[in-house]
Amino acid sequence: MKKKLIFACILAILIICLICLDKVILDKKDTLKYDKVIKLNVGDKIIYSISNDTTIKWDNIKDEDGIIYYTGTYKGVISYKNKEYPITMIVEDKEKPTIEGSHDIETNVGSEVDLYDGVTISDNSHDEIKKEIVGSYDFNKTGIYNLTIKVTDKSGNEESSDFKLTVKEKNKKINSKTSSKGYKIEEISGITYVNGILIANKTYSLPQTYNPGGLLKDFTDNFELMRKDALKEGVKLKVVSGFRSYDIQNNLYNRYVARDGKKEADTYSARPGHSEHQTGLAADINSVDNNFGETKEGKWLSDNCYKYGFILRYPKGKESITGYIYESWHIRYVGDIAKELYNNGNWISLEEYLGITSQYK
Ligand code: DAL
Ligand code: ZN
Repeated sequence: MKKKLIFACILAILIICLICLDKVILDKKDTLKYDKVIKLNVGDKIIYSISNDTTIKWDNIKDEDGIIYYTGTYKGVISYKNKEYPITMIVEDKEKPTIEGSHDIETNVGSEVDLYDGVTISDNSHDEIKKEIVGSYDFNKTGIYNLTIKVTDKSGNEESSDFKLTVKEKNKKINSKTSSKGYKIEEISGITYVNGILIANKTYSLPQTYNPGGLLKDFTDNFELMRKDALKEGVKLKVVSGFRSYDIQNNLYNRYVARDGKKEADTYSARPGHSEHQTGLAADINSVDNNFGETKEGKWLSDNCYKYGFILRYPKGKESITGYIYESWHIRYVGDIAKELYNNGNWISLEEYLGITSQYK
């Protein structure tokens, strides 16, 4: 009987302790027991007292009418019956910032514009927000640049918004048509963009002078991400032919014509000005060999390259649309639309997707 009573008492004490665990309580020696660390979200009311007879003084705190808008860890002291107890308050921000008013921008070559013009960036915290433009662009070079405004608050919450920057030649009107899929076909300084995507195929050529000087950052940055991820799975990828200037392509094409005749060469080699290798956005990977698609590396590339913004530019079965034989080794950077072209492994060609042709005139 006595044992049962002791057991019941212990149980009752345990339950009381559990109930009181995160509240302010006093122990037998009249010592304050409380949560030494409290968590708040930005926009919450600051805590200046945790019971009727306690007051808290915070170090270095900046509140606005009792509301805390700055994230961080604040140290405080609770005063209770002439004694002082330390307390810590952690203010967190779990919401991402917002971007409003982001829009496509057009400017003349050589005229810099503010890429944040008309854009409002805000956050629920009043901390400083980091803002950046992701993507490469050049106010001194004509082109359509696909860019992103990316903002990050102090807690690492991110938001982004895509826009296009068109840098056009001074006083030069943009020649604009529409593709059979309703996409805008724009010709700027002899370069064709369809829905903002630079095109080089049998229909659309690049000027002889167009020379980005090598593979562009969009290609190299994303290829590096892909190469590292592939390597983790034991797949080694490398570029064997990247940028090719107009002149290099001219020599290459002429060599093939001399070897196989023009008709045959046109099925696998682009005429100068028509090669994607001149864009700086395409490359041949590992080996220019018809069996590459059957190798571990070729399969990995076909199954995964879209995740990094690349497409298999000349898919199997699309020879009459792209104008070229199946090239399992040739990838092209197109960005976000790569996912749609991947089409769950049944690659569709860029020509089909955009509604354009690839035929010599
Ligand atoms: N082999 C591709 C079509 C080129 O020559 O660009
Ligand atoms: Zn190629």
